[in-house]
Amino acid sequence: MDLSVYKIMHYVAIMALFFGLGGLTLGALNASGKNFANRKIFSILHGVGLFFILFSGFGQMARLGLTTSMPHWVVAKIILWLILGASIALIFRKPALNKYFWVFLIVAGSLAAYLGHLKPI
Ligand code: HEM
Repeated sequence: MDLSVYKIMHYVAIMALFFGLGGLTLGALNASGKNFANRKIFSILHGVGLFFILFSGFGQMARLGLTTSMPHWVVAKIILWLILGASIALIFRKPALNKYFWVFLIVAGSLAAYLGHLKPI
């Protein structure tokens, strides 16, 4: 697949992940726990988004010729990806914190975009 196909896939998957996280944080906050309507669809968006972010991330790396080494900015993005994946546990365990968690999510997403675009490390 072409680099631009992977790039657009990356963007679409990022939208799915953050849409899912938005629904899960709001649902858990309002219900004070994990029993809320449409939880399944937001969980699926979260999981499918994560999968395709990783898939398209490695696809872009292959197209950019990054096949033998992994630069620090990629390692940092993988760590952010892991944190965004694991965050689902915290969302359900401490739902009252979710309104603060939104700020963290925006910062984490912005950091991943910054790392991908400017490759500062
Ligand atoms: C939630 C996590 C992530 C977000 C929000 C994110 C965001 C972005 C964005 C916005 C770009 C476009 C930069 C540009 O076109 O200038 C990008 C590019 C890229 N991302 Fe991610 N990314 C994430 C995770 C990952 C992961 C896990 C990997 C690696 C496995 C990865 C690898 C890449 C690569 C290789 C590029 C292309 C850089 C280039 O065109 O030179 N990303 N990312």
